[in-house]
Amino acid sequence: MNKRIIELLEQHEGSYLSGEALSKDLKVSRTAVWKQIKKLESLGYTIEASRRLGYRLAGKPSRLILPELLDKLRDTSFIQSVKLLDTVDSTQNIAQRLAEEGAPEGTLVIAEQQTSGRGRLGRSWVSPMGKGVWMSLVLRPDIPLQFASQLTLLTAVALCRGLKSLAPLEIGIKWPNDLLIGGKKISGILLESTAEEDRLRYVIAGIGISVNLEDEDYPAELRGAATSLRIVLGHPVDRAEVIAAFVSQFEQLYAAYRQSGFAPIQTLWEALSVTLHKPAKLITPGGTIEGTPIGLDERGALLVEQSDGIIVPVFSAEMGVPSE
Ligand code: BTN
Repeated sequence: MNKRIIELLEQHEGSYLSGEALSKDLKVSRTAVWKQIKKLESLGYTIEASRRLGYRLAGKPSRLILPELLDKLRDTSFIQSVKLLDTVDSTQNIAQRLAEEGAPEGTLVIAEQQTSGRGRLGRSWVSPMGKGVWMSLVLRPDIPLQFASQLTLLTAVALCRGLKSLAPLEIGIKWPNDLLIGGKKISGILLESTAEEDRLRYVIAGIGISVNLEDEDYPAELRGAATSLRIVLGHPVDRAEVIAAFVSQFEQLYAAYRQSGFAPIQTLWEALSVTLHKPAKLITPGGTIEGTPIGLDERGALLVEQSDGIIVPVFSAEMGVPSE
């Protein structure tokens, strides 16, 4: 039925087709038509609905085309294979399964839509069809488990630099790895590690970039806190370009990290951070810390100076503003 609705709307491109005409052609009720229209919207079609006039096709989902994407990635030697999927629960799950089966470092899993996209701290991640970059990268770094957070910071720097290379964006990193524009979140990074003894076996770097989402794609409670490249720039952005920009930066930074360790990443992260030198409250599993973040240490921990002058390293926490 969906296919037929699209066919009919396409035949009337630019003008409205009444709900009655659709229901007659499909031999279903107008409520059934409306339900299908909602389904099409969830698949990435933009359909304008007017009580008086009916429905008008205003936009089709944009698809990533594998050969086009591979062409944009032609200069990278880091990416070994790209798996481009339609609808998945979470690209993290697919990449993890591939890693368990022996997939090499540089395996990239991308999906058009995630039904159970996940974020840090057990949150869910809004991943509508065709609107963003939802991807997971398999890494096999030869580093101790306690350094895994360095990779989170590296990934945030790569993404920040990648997005800045596409457009003059005022974009900064909120510790540890949220990218913000005008105080609103535009992307998130989730690193999931599997270790043996205290060495990492593999890491799945999950990256979510809100590229072409519009306000109505977010649940109401997120609208004030989230944004997208499309909202900020005022026009849609080619998702393949976004992926290629990230990969290019990641490849360079990961090579520098393997050669020279965390120091170069630390400097870049600190320069892009919007977190440093502003009072903050960090909710850690061991309790709440209030103070001023002053930098990173060589392990990748955030150094927070408390009011008593003591400097505490923080590896993992939820960051908020301090209480009065
Ligand atoms: C966060 O800010 O909380 C992290 C969000 C990470 C989202 C990405 S989208 C691709 C990958 N698959 C997931 O399920 N999550 C990550």
